Amino acid sequence: MKFIINIILLFCIAVTVKSEDGHELWLRKSKPSAVNIASKGTSETLNIARQELTQNWQGEPGATITLKIVKDKRFKGDGFKLETTGIQANTELGILYGVYEMLRRQQTGQPVSIVISNPSYEHRILNHWDNPNGTIERGYAGYSIFWRNGKDSLTITEQDKKLWTEYARANASIGINGTVLNNVNASQNMITAPYLERVKAIADILRPYGIKTYLAVKFSSPSLLGGIKTSDPLDPEVIQWWHGKVGEIYSIIPDFGGFLVKANSEGQPGPQDFGRTHADGANMLADALKQYDGIVMWRAFVYSPEENDRAKQAYLEFMRFDGMFRENVIIQVKNGPVDFQPREPFSPLFGAMKKTSVMAELQITQEYLGHSIQLVFLAPMWEECLQSDTYQEGPGSTVARATDGSIYPQKHSAIAGVANIGLDNNWCGHPFAQANWYAFGRLAWNNKLSSETIADEWIRQTFLPEDAKEKGITSGDWQQKFLVPVKEMMLQTREAAVNYSMPLGLHHIFAGAHHYGPGPWEAPRGVRPDWTPVYYHRADTLGIGFDRTRKGSDAVSQYQEPLASQFDDPETCPDKYLLWFHHLPWTYEMKNGRILWDELCYSYESGVLQVREFQKIWDQVEPYVDKQRFSEVQSKLRRHYRDARIWKDACLLYFQQYSKLPIPYDIERPENDLEDLMKIRLGWSHHN
Ligand code: GCU
Repeated sequence: MKFIINIILLFCIAVTVKSEDGHELWLRKSKPSAVNIASKGTSETLNIARQELTQNWQGEPGATITLKIVKDKRFKGDGFKLETTGIQANTELGILYGVYEMLRRQQTGQPVSIVISNPSYEHRILNHWDNPNGTIERGYAGYSIFWRNGKDSLTITEQDKKLWTEYARANASIGINGTVLNNVNASQNMITAPYLERVKAIADILRPYGIKTYLAVKFSSPSLLGGIKTSDPLDPEVIQWWHGKVGEIYSIIPDFGGFLVKANSEGQPGPQDFGRTHADGANMLADALKQYDGIVMWRAFVYSPEENDRAKQAYLEFMRFDGMFRENVIIQVKNGPVDFQPREPFSPLFGAMKKTSVMAELQITQEYLGHSIQLVFLAPMWEECLQSDTYQEGPGSTVARATDGSIYPQKHSAIAGVANIGLDNNWCGHPFAQANWYAFGRLAWNNKLSSETIADEWIRQTFLPEDAKEKGITSGDWQQKFLVPVKEMMLQTREAAVNYSMPLGLHHIFAGAHHYGPGPWEAPRGVRPDWTPVYYHRADTLGIGFDRTRKGSDAVSQYQEPLASQFDDPETCPDKYLLWFHHLPWTYEMKNGRILWDELCYSYESGVLQVREFQKIWDQVEPYVDKQRFSEVQSKLRRHYRDARIWKDACLLYFQQYSKLPIPYDIERPENDLEDLMKIRLGWSHHN
């Protein structure tokens, strides 16, 4: 009898421990306790705030929480004050953010003490690179949640609305308050009436969660849509067309956020096509948006094949316009001077443009960091950038402070992240890629947060100790045996990716256009040099690396002293940027006494070993995780490890042709031949 009862019990447990597909993100539900809410006013936003509290309260059962809108100068924008007994804010949205903070603290076991929390940036924006046909440029989590192909592509379904609501809630819970709904390589169709109707429907759903809607626009729209002969930003007809278009958009979406523009970059049209400047183009659009309080985010991601060093070009093009942009223009600058590489020094434009609003663009989608196959937590990369000292206004002029209004009186402060969100059930393709969406939001709210804090919070909310409770695991055990090792692993993943792909300042040595696997040998005829890996690593019999010193391309001089001199001298240049700034002999003696070639070999090897270690850590945490996410991550880590090995073998065997030195004998020998590796084109078939 006892045996049968046990069997029945076991069966019940098996059916109640539901497998997790990750769709609930970091907002997984624990059983709530009762809570009383004292608050005045009704609005959609306040209703959401109250609903979140009642559905997720983990604090003292029966407590009373007072939500109060006040007028308090200590709160910036939608900032708030948290107390054990309530939340105060100047705005309804501030109340909602306070509620999410309170619930986060409960869920992560932090005390709810008195604290004032203000956002670092006024605009905290996701950039979706989604195309009108539903594909996503550099998206690795399925098709777009906003756009789709086919005959009913613009019909708004209940399923659409449900998904957009979930999306809005997830963003609001981490403080994101804006979203650009389409690709920077923009289709002009996006600002035509049928598409604007859909934008309106999306905006209506996002609004109560405090999220503004923006669109990326194509600069040649006046010609393409308006039938005007030119799209010259100084042409009166063109100006009138944009004013009319902006008016139309605001009549449909009264709180529309504004435009994001990629102009004269990678073949996109722009003001230079008409002999005008970036300032002419951005200001014309800004003037059209001004009366509605709209903004223009004008991207500085520009480079042309003629110049000798791509890393210098954005600075050269934009510095001359400092002080010439309208107040509602923000220059959007990628974190590094080239293109979202696993590691780059910060873009020298940060801090240097002192009379212009400048915002950082980070890439959440893992274009150059393993797509949705590799487990790479990006917060350490962003923290490294935000905390880099530009020295532009003396020591302590970090990228964070140079962009958040602490140093320069910029009218607007903002930060953008290229989204990694798609229709996949778990939104991001890899269960751990959700942590990057989370990290972006948290850093946009507070650019001083540490990666460790963010990882800790994310793990506690995404993998609950309750998951393991049925197996008799206490929450203390869960922390020691799951939280601690998994957090440690996450914090090392970015450095591991740098090590097995592009250590010591190497960059852009990917194969083909898919940006997944290695291709240091690639230099196809007819392809512009700055789109080939050999342009960036410059390996030859004498050495390796890009000479950006004063004797080379002189990119170092775009940095403020003491950085310029520090980067210029290989003895003082940090090892992590060594081959970014220097072309050095294979036998160059490193700070640790090794020769450069050996150091390169050990770096690649250490990256591979790190991933091996991640596999072990993950295998050991099996008892603490639901089956579905455990197996998914385990299988992705296997592939991750195999591909890391391919990176190592490909790069070492290729570079060895030039160094002509042996791979140190205490390192695992390459398992593949270079010839075979050159044929593999890793990632090509799946991730074009
Ligand atoms: C990268 C990326 C492109 C993208 C571009 C951009 O080059 O590979 O797909 O369009 O950045 O940021 O504009």
